[in-house]
Amino acid sequence: MESRLLLFTPFFFLLLLLDAGSAQMPGTWCCEAGFVSLDCGGKENFTDELGLNWTPDSQLTYGEAANISVATETRKQYLTLRHFPADSRKYCYTLNVISRTRYLVRATFLYGNFDINNVYPKFDISLGATPWSTIVISDASTVEVRELIFLALSPTISVCLSNATTGKPFISTLELRQFNGSIYFTDFEEEYFLSVSARINFGADSEAPIRYPDDPFDRIWESDSVKKANYLVDVAAGTKKVSTKMPISVNSNDRPPEKVMQTAVVGTNGSLTYRLILDGFPGFGWAFSYFAEIEDLGADESRKFRLVLPGNADISKAVVNIEENAQGKYRLYEPGFTNISLPFVLSFRFGKTSDSSRGPLLNAMEINKYLEKNDGSLDGTVIENMLSYYSSADWAQEGGDACLPVPWSWVQCNSDPQPKIVKISLSSKNLTGNIPSDLTKLTSLVELWLDGNSLTGPIPDFTGCADLKIIHLENNQLTGELPSSLMNLPSLRELYVENNMLSGTVPSGLLNKNLVLNYSGNINLRKGDKRGSHIDVIIGSSVGAAILLIATIVSCVFMGKGKKKYFEKDQSEHSLPVQRLVSSKGDAPTEAGQCFTFSEIEDATRKFERKIGSGGFGVVYYGKMKDGKEIAVKVLTSNSYQGKREFSNEVTLLSRIHHRNLVQFLGYCQEGERSMLVYEFMHNGTLKEHLYGPLTREQSISWIKRLEIAEDAAKGIEYLHTGCVPAIIHRDLKSSNILIDKHMRAKVADFGLSKLAVDGVSHVSSIVRGTVGYLDPEYYISQQLTDKSDVYSFGVILLELISGQEAISNESFGVNCRNIVQWAKSHIESGDIQGIIDPTLNEFDIQSMWKIAEKALLCVQAHGHMRPSISEVLKEIHEAIAIEKEALATREGNSEDMSRNSIHSSLNLGCIDADNGLSFDESIAQPSAR
Ligand SMILES: *[C@@H]1O[C@H](CO)[C@@H](O)[C@H](O)[C@H]1NC(C)=O
Ligand SMILES: *[C@@H]1O[C@H](CO)[C@@H](O)[C@H](O)[C@H]1NC(C)=O
Ligand SMILES: *[C@@H]1O[C@H](CO)[C@@H](O)[C@H](O)[C@H]1NC(C)=O
Ligand SMILES: *[C@@H]1O[C@H](CO)[C@@H](O)[C@H](O)[C@H]1NC(C)=O
Ligand SMILES: *[C@@H]1O[C@H](CO)[C@@H](O)[C@H](O)[C@H]1NC(C)=O
Ligand SMILES: *[C@@H]1O[C@H](CO)[C@@H](O)[C@H](O)[C@H]1NC(C)=O
Repeated sequence: MESRLLLFTPFFFLLLLLDAGSAQMPGTWCCEAGFVSLDCGGKENFTDELGLNWTPDSQLTYGEAANISVATETRKQYLTLRHFPADSRKYCYTLNVISRTRYLVRATFLYGNFDINNVYPKFDISLGATPWSTIVISDASTVEVRELIFLALSPTISVCLSNATTGKPFISTLELRQFNGSIYFTDFEEEYFLSVSARINFGADSEAPIRYPDDPFDRIWESDSVKKANYLVDVAAGTKKVSTKMPISVNSNDRPPEKVMQTAVVGTNGSLTYRLILDGFPGFGWAFSYFAEIEDLGADESRKFRLVLPGNADISKAVVNIEENAQGKYRLYEPGFTNISLPFVLSFRFGKTSDSSRGPLLNAMEINKYLEKNDGSLDGTVIENMLSYYSSADWAQEGGDACLPVPWSWVQCNSDPQPKIVKISLSSKNLTGNIPSDLTKLTSLVELWLDGNSLTGPIPDFTGCADLKIIHLENNQLTGELPSSLMNLPSLRELYVENNMLSGTVPSGLLNKNLVLNYSGNINLRKGDKRGSHIDVIIGSSVGAAILLIATIVSCVFMGKGKKKYFEKDQSEHSLPVQRLVSSKGDAPTEAGQCFTFSEIEDATRKFERKIGSGGFGVVYYGKMKDGKEIAVKVLTSNSYQGKREFSNEVTLLSRIHHRNLVQFLGYCQEGERSMLVYEFMHNGTLKEHLYGPLTREQSISWIKRLEIAEDAAKGIEYLHTGCVPAIIHRDLKSSNILIDKHMRAKVADFGLSKLAVDGVSHVSSIVRGTVGYLDPEYYISQQLTDKSDVYSFGVILLELISGQEAISNESFGVNCRNIVQWAKSHIESGDIQGIIDPTLNEFDIQSMWKIAEKALLCVQAHGHMRPSISEVLKEIHEAIAIEKEALATREGNSEDMSRNSIHSSLNLGCIDADNGLSFDESIAQPSAR
C-alpha cells in the first residue's frame, strides 16, 4: 500500500461529507438499530445501565458457561463467560449482518479466575478466516477488549477462538454495532479490516469512557485521564484541559459525538506531546485527529500548528488552523491519513507556528490498523452450500471458515495460503439422502469417508476430483450401478462400497491390481465378464473381518484384564505399529510403563472416590492396588492428549526417568477418551500445603527441613537437566509440584508432562506452559525454552521457602505488587531480609538464610544467561545446610532449653542427609534415561 497523505486537505473532507449525505437514509432515529450484545455464558436477557440490551449466548451448543470469581467487576455482562476446551479445534460465534454495511465488532475477555486455576489463558481469535488477535491475559481483573471495523460482504460473520497455548479459551462479551455513515470508508475496505488501536477523548472530565448513548454507535472513547501503563505518556509541560457547554456541529452522526468534541487539551507552552503504545503496530494504519475550536480567541489572536512525527518531515508542512479549516468555531475539522505507516511506540507532537499566538488544541484521535483479510478456503462456497442441507446436524455447526485458522474437526486442508479441502471424514454421522453433489466439486479432495451413514441414491460422478485416492462409501443404502466414471480417477487406490444396494456389474476397469476394491454385500452387484484379476481384489468381507479380528485380539491382549503386560513399540514401522508384547511377572524392571486396565484403576481408586489434588493436567485420585501398594492416579483432562501411539511413546519415555527425587512413575491407562497416569503415592502432600496450606498449623517446617526439601528438589531437577539425554525441562515447577513422602523427603512431580499435551494444531511442545507466578518472563516473551526457565521457577520456590508466602497474592505484598519476586527483591536488595522471613520460623542461622536469599534473586534474574545453573544452586544449598547444621549444633550445645523434639528431629535429619549424598552420586553415575 502506498501511503497517501490526506491530512489537512479540506477537499477530502468535502468528499466524505457528500458521501455521508447520500448514505444517510430516511427513517426514524432509533437508538439500537443494528446492535447485537451477547452476554457470553449469561442466563437471561437484561438491559444495562447504559440502556444496552444484552442477550445470553445460550443457543451455542458447545463450550461451557462459567462465573468469574474476582469481586472487582460488577457489570452483569462480565460476571459470566463461556469457555471452550483447549484443543486443536476452533469455536465460533456466527452473527447475522447486512451485506455491504459497515460494522464495529467488539469482543471482550475478563478472565476473573473463572476456573479457579490462576493460569492466565493465551489464545487466538479470528474473524472468519482472518487471524484477528492473540488474547494474552495478564491479570485476572482487567477486561481485554478487541475491536474491528469492517465492511460486511456476506450475510454472516464468524468470530472464532482457537489455538490456546495456555489455559482455556474463553469470551465474556461479543458486540456488533452497525454504522450508518462513511467515516470508515477506505479504498481498501474489501481487502482489509480496521483493527482499533486507539480512540481517545482528550481533556476528558472524568476517567469514564464516553460511549452509548452519547455515541449512537457505541464506540468507546477512552478518557485521556486514565493512566494505563505506557499509555499517553510524555505529556508536555503546560498541557491544560479546556471544555465548553456549547453545542458542536459534527455534521454527521458517525463523527465523534458532541460530548467528546466538547473537551480538549491545549498546549499552553506551544506544544502538545504524547507517546502512545499502539497495539498491533508497526504496520499501516488509518489515523485521524478531530479538532473543534472551543476557546474564545481575541480578534488579534490565532491558533495555528503543525503535526510533527519523527522521521516524517513531509507531514510537518501542513498547517492546521481549526477555525479556518472548519469554517467557524464549534465546528468539527477532521484531518487524517487513510493510509500511513506507524510504529508500535508512537511519539507525536503538535507544535504552534511562530506566527501563532495560541498553542495547539486537540479534542480526539482515532488510530486503526489495517488487517489484511484472508478470504479463506477456495472451497468455501462449495462447502457452505453443502452445509445448508445439514443445517441441524451437530457437525455442521462449527462455524467460520472450513480450513482457517484451523480446519473443522471433520475436514483436512492443504497448507496453501488459500487452502483447499483434501479430506472429508463424515463416517457414521447419520447422513441421509443422496451423496451431496457439492462434494464432487472439491477439486483437491484426496480422501472421502462417508461410510456408515444412511445415504441413498446413486454414486455421483467424481471425475472433477482428480486427486481422489481413497473413497469409503460402505455401509450405506446406495443404489444404482458402480459408475464407470470412477475409472477416470488416476490416483484412486482404495474404493469401499460394500454393504450397499448397488446393482449391475463392476466395471472391468476397476478390477485391476492397483486398486483395492471391496464391493461385497451388494446382492445385485456382479463382477463383469472379464475374469483374471480377481486374485488381487479383496472380495467379500471375510478378509476385512479377519483384519478386524486380529486387531481386536491385539488390543485385548494389550488391555488384558488382570494380566500385566509390558509392551514396546518398534518405531521404525510407520503405518501399523508392531507391538512387541513382553509378558512379565511381578516387579520386573520397568523399562516401559505398565499398562493398567481401566477396571484395575477403578478398583484401586474405589471408583475415583478420594480426590487428592488437581492441576493444569488433570485431577489426581488416591488408590490402593490389590497388593497393598498405594498409588496416585492422575486423570488427564480429556481432549488435550494426542493419539494413542504418541501418548504411549511419551509415556514410555517418562517411565525411563528414575531418580529418588522424582516421583516414581508406575504406569498408565488409556481407554476410550480417558488417559491416566499412575504414580507412587506421596503420603505427606505437597510443599505448598506445608508452607501455607492446611498442614501449616499442624507443623510449620523448620529452616533446616526447608533447606533439605530444596536440596531434594534441586537434585531431582538437576537429574532432569543433566542426567537425561536429551535434557528434560520441567516447565511447570511450583511448590504444589514438590511432593513430600512419609519420611519428609521431597520429590519433584509432573515432569515430562508438558510434552504430552497437544499444542493447538502444531503438535509440538514449544509453547508456553506454566503457572502464573512461576513462569519465566523471558520464556513467556520469547517462547524460547531453556533449562534456565526451570531455574527461574525454582528461584520462586526458594523465595516461598524463605517467606512462607504464596508466589502470587493480592494481599500479602502491599500495594501495586502481587508477586513474590518483586516484593522479595525490593526487600533483599535494600538489605531488609528480616522483612521477608516467614514469621513462623524462629530458629535459623541468618547467614544460611542470606545465602539462599541471594541465590534465589540470581535465579529470578530477567535474563536466562544471568541465572545460575541448577547445579550451582544445589551447591549453594549444600553450603547453607552445612552452615545451618553447625549453627544448630552450637545452639543445642549452648542451650539447655532445647527440647527433646528438636534434638530428635535433627538426628533424624542427619540420617536423611547421608542418604541424600548417596542419591547424588547415583544420579551422576547413571545418566541412563534417554
Ligand atoms: C442508521 O440508519 C438506520 C436506517 O435508516 C436507522 O434506522 C438507524 O437509526 C440509524 N442509526 C443511527 C445510529 O444513526
Ligand atoms: C431474549 O430476548 C429475545 C428477543 O429480544 C428473545 O427472542 C429471547 O427468547 C429472550 N431470551 C430469554 C432467555 O429470555
Ligand atoms: C453462576 O452463578 C449463578 C448465580 O450465583 C448460578 O446460578 C450458576 O449456576 C453459576 N453458574 C456456574 C456455571 O457455576
Ligand atoms: C498458535 O499460537 C502460537 C503462539 O502464540 C503461534 O506461534 C502459532 O502460529 C499459532 N498457530 C496458529 C495456527 O495460528
Ligand atoms: C510553561 O509555561 C509556564 C507559564 O505559562 C512556565 O511557568 C513554565 O516554565 C513553562 N514550561 C516550559 C517547559 O516551558
Ligand atoms: C443417529 O441417529 C440415531 C437415531 O436417530 C441416534 O440414536 C444417534 O445418536 C445418531 N447419531 C449421531 C452421530 O448423530
